Amino acid sequence: MMGHSLLCTAGFFLLTTVICAYAEVTASIRPVVTLHPNWSEIYRGETITVRCEIHGGDTEWDYEWETNSIIKPPNQTEYRISSASSFNSGNYRCKGRMKSSQNKTTEWSDSVTLTVFDNPVLTVSPSWLSPGASVTLNCEVKHPSAGWSFYWYKAVPALSEKSYSYKLLPDGSGTAQDSYIIHGQTHTAGYVCRAGRGDPEYHTDHSQPKFVWSADVNSAVSLTVSPDRVQHFLSDSLSLTCKGNFTEWRVMTVLQRNPSYYNNCWLMIGSTCIIHTLVSDTGVYWCESGSGEFSRAVNITVVQKNSIYYPYDYVPILVSPVHPLTEGASVSLSCSLTTQKILSNVFFYHNDKLIQNDTRGELNISAVSKSDEGFYKCQYSGRESAQSWMSVKVITVTVSGTDSSSSPVWLMVGLVCGVSLIIILLLLLYRCRQSKYSCFTRSIQSESHSPGSSTNHGVNQNETHEYGSLQHGTANVYESIKQVKNRNGEHHKPEGSAFYINVQM
Ligand SMILES: *[C@@H]1O[C@H](CO)[C@@H](O)[C@H](O)[C@H]1NC(C)=O
Ligand SMILES: *[C@@H]1O[C@H](CO)[C@@H](O)[C@H](O)[C@H]1NC(C)=O
Repeated sequence: MMGHSLLCTAGFFLLTTVICAYAEVTASIRPVVTLHPNWSEIYRGETITVRCEIHGGDTEWDYEWETNSIIKPPNQTEYRISSASSFNSGNYRCKGRMKSSQNKTTEWSDSVTLTVFDNPVLTVSPSWLSPGASVTLNCEVKHPSAGWSFYWYKAVPALSEKSYSYKLLPDGSGTAQDSYIIHGQTHTAGYVCRAGRGDPEYHTDHSQPKFVWSADVNSAVSLTVSPDRVQHFLSDSLSLTCKGNFTEWRVMTVLQRNPSYYNNCWLMIGSTCIIHTLVSDTGVYWCESGSGEFSRAVNITVVQKNSIYYPYDYVPILVSPVHPLTEGASVSLSCSLTTQKILSNVFFYHNDKLIQNDTRGELNISAVSKSDEGFYKCQYSGRESAQSWMSVKVITVTVSGTDSSSSPVWLMVGLVCGVSLIIILLLLLYRCRQSKYSCFTRSIQSESHSPGSSTNHGVNQNETHEYGSLQHGTANVYESIKQVKNRNGEHHKPEGSAFYINVQM
């Protein structure tokens, strides 16, 4: 009995010692998780490899990963993420399990955090364009020092895909700068960027499209809004009509509350998009054609009829034009309750400054100027409308003026040069005629002093070849043909040169 228990204890002791000794061997090994390239923060679309490295011993290992990421790595030493997404974000740790003895494992490695950002963010400034101005694009990535290069695209409406396709802008491939400037933009346009880094270079996903809006009328696509005013009451119907030389089009919008873009039509009647307004429909609207053109853009503001504080008190809307006014045009702003225009005692504010507070119901400006531009609102018996921007377009000739101001100068220079040349030629001809063949005689004389000229040999041996050169207009060749012809006594007229023919006479 005693012997048995002694044996048992000894056995147990031995076993524990062996286990402990073994555990020591493996537990002293702690794998390391490494990232290749060594970026712990990456963008969607980039490629990265997560590796489990076990140093020590020539043992062969099986690998095991533990992660809180949504996509789990396979049980292998290397995990290559070839186009990262947010599902790859998380903490990664690994351990090794001996191939020869499956219950012998290493410790867990320290965990390494991988963060996958969505996509680069593009900013476009200004957001509203004065036609012909410059537009600056900025592509924002974290760690701008990490050797990024940038790619710049124009967004081209792809109606069938309900999205945009991207067209590389001139010199927009792989710039070292995170900004890109577009000069002389006149129309509404959309832009996209992406970034790349590393060797080989892997790219991030494209940014969301961002727009620069123009109120310019000279676009291939026209947009009309009915009723023609910026402010609309909640649940009113509002129609937007796009016209132009195309069959397919869509109305796009960027809403104030949700800065992504989408098609907001409730209903299409013929070529008109009907919007049944919700308060959240406040935003910028424009049309896009199937052939990739953009219309001018408009602001639309949707307001609730009654305020939440005074449910039975109606809030008025300002009736102001949706399109910019041309300098010198007349305009009449008014205030409206539901569908009724308020006829008297309306106060008007320009940039928060009271500018009219009499018995009139309208604010009439007979000839608007740039100084009338700004935010307007109206007030009726203590109830104030929302404010809206009224823009005034100054008529300038600067866009075409800068080009045409320089061209007359060149035209004049060209004209003077041309006329002088003709006069010189005529004088020359006259002199030649006067002294019969003296021109040629002089040439032949000078020719005979240098008979070894290679050009002349060429002409003699291969005339057709030289005629080819003649068409290229080389003055020297011209001269030599003339000279050689004369020496050989040939008199056929080559075509294509008035000068040559005239001299022959
Ligand atoms: C990796 O191995 C562990 C333990 O054997 C297992 O629970 C896990 O499901 C395996 N993962 C994969 C992706 O095979
Ligand atoms: C739209 O509103 C913004 C200010 O919110 C203004 O700068 C812009 O000029 C307006 N656009 C038009 C076409 O009135």
